[in-house]
Amino acid sequence: MTALDLSSPVAVVGTGTMGQGIAQVALVAGHPVRLYDTAPGRAQAAADAIGARLDRLVEKDRLTGTDRDAARARLTAAGTLADLADCSLVVEAVLERLDVKQELFRELEDVVDQDCLLATNTSSLSVTAIGGALRNPGRLVGLHFFNPAPLLPLVEVVSGFATDVTSATRAYETARAWGKTPVACADTPGFIVNRIARPFYAEAFAVYEAQGADPATIDAVLRESGGFKMGAFELTDLIGQDVNESVTHSVWESFFRDVRFTPSLAQRRLVESGRLGRKSGHGWYDHGPDAEPAEPHTAEPSQPPAHVTAEGDLGPASELLALIREAGIQVREDEEDYGTRLVLPSGGQLALADGQTSVEFRDVVYFDLALDYRRATRIALSASQDTAPQTLAEAIGLFQALGKDVSVIGDVPGMIVARTVARIVDLAHDALAKGVATEEDIDTAMRLGVNYPLGPFEWSRRLGRNWAYALLDDLHLRDPSGRYAPSLALYRHAYATDKREGSTS
Ligand SMILES: NC(=O)c1ccc[n+]([C@@H]2O[C@H](COP(=O)([O-])OP(=O)(O)OC[C@H]3O[C@@H](n4cnc5c(N)ncnc54)[C@H](O)[C@@H]3O)[C@@H](O)[C@H]2O)c1
Repeated sequence: MTALDLSSPVAVVGTGTMGQGIAQVALVAGHPVRLYDTAPGRAQAAADAIGARLDRLVEKDRLTGTDRDAARARLTAAGTLADLADCSLVVEAVLERLDVKQELFRELEDVVDQDCLLATNTSSLSVTAIGGALRNPGRLVGLHFFNPAPLLPLVEVVSGFATDVTSATRAYETARAWGKTPVACADTPGFIVNRIARPFYAEAFAVYEAQGADPATIDAVLRESGGFKMGAFELTDLIGQDVNESVTHSVWESFFRDVRFTPSLAQRRLVESGRLGRKSGHGWYDHGPDAEPAEPHTAEPSQPPAHVTAEGDLGPASELLALIREAGIQVREDEEDYGTRLVLPSGGQLALADGQTSVEFRDVVYFDLALDYRRATRIALSASQDTAPQTLAEAIGLFQALGKDVSVIGDVPGMIVARTVARIVDLAHDALAKGVATEEDIDTAMRLGVNYPLGPFEWSRRLGRNWAYALLDDLHLRDPSGRYAPSLALYRHAYATDKREGSTS
């Protein structure tokens, strides 16, 4: 099965933000494109807007003037649905309402040929449900583009229960021929990206709600330690709190209110109060003209310890030992495998976030997971009211000696990056086990769709196969709501690995 022939006309119905972007992609790829919208004059306005964007591409030398003129000549605004009769593909990007989309496809079925491929750009409705209105649902496929469609490479190609393999393959190959990176996925709530990305927002909001840290500190830790391009608070201010919350809400509702997807109360309050982010001038942050950038909490300079004793294996944080030595601090190694801790001169201990709280131990400071401890510019530490001040001071001084800014947060189990990554890894394993997509496509989708520095499976391999399971199991013990319950898929993965490695733990 090959991509659609470039001479085949493509129709885009609904010419708002997404419709215009998708039309531009198909047009620049070489198809004749028809635009249709029910709002009077909107299809022509969209054609003009796309034309202006092509002009800008010419100014930036990314399109020749000849190609721009040819593309413009291929683009037309249709007056009625009947004008789409000879199209080989119709992509729908209308209002996100099941009844509206069903009615549109019902009408389209009477207009287009039998072999015309139908596609929906829905982000939250079920492709199967939309197809339920069709006489031939086998030709309906989800083509989920990301905004802005001309720039973002990812397209989720969604097969509903009734979608024919030939339709899905044709849509997949066509997206690829348009220069996109398609991934194949099953018709489940949130598809790949909007399902697996939920904890990125939810855990940041949960740490804030637990009084663990303020938005600027959590964002800085996610960026500078976690390697994410943006923190959850700044990103949702950019997306719009209402838009982000509605995706969360829809995934939660679609999973029959599965507690793992529960929306955030704090975000609800923002939306209720009209603090929608950049577009309203205020969200988690103030975006007004005189707004000062919010600063993360950063600890004052502290004296580094003269030495540390490494007990056991630091797992994903092992690289720290080399960094500590390079900073001129003596590392004494204790052969006894007591656990995974660094003992400070005061006798207090420093441990990688593991889903337990500092208050459970005599004198422990936790440090957060980093994508790469060498490149991280900030590390979060958490201590409880029982932690000796000297232990915390030595822990702060140690990371400062490695050139890191230090943010001290509250005693939140799993801290910030560790709990976020563990939950993303868990949802990825769960999605894989449920046939949502392949491991490779899930990794690709999360890197391209939401810019993660690593795909969840790549991250999982780096962290050690049962790291995420162990952390979530500990978190689940402390919050038995089910929110952190590791999936059966993650359990199987961790257990199978343990057996392979001959471990009895
Ligand atoms: N905006 C995003 O970031 C994004 C990303 C991925 C997918 N989506 C999905 O894409 C679709 C469109 O979203 P958008 O943000 O472009 O919306 P939009 O509001 O910008 O545009 C929707 C357009 O559809 C038109 N329309 C409404 N009903 C119609 C009908 N029956 N027939 C023809 N035209 C009709 C409207 O006049 C409007 O021009 C939705 O399903 C949305 O969930 C949006």
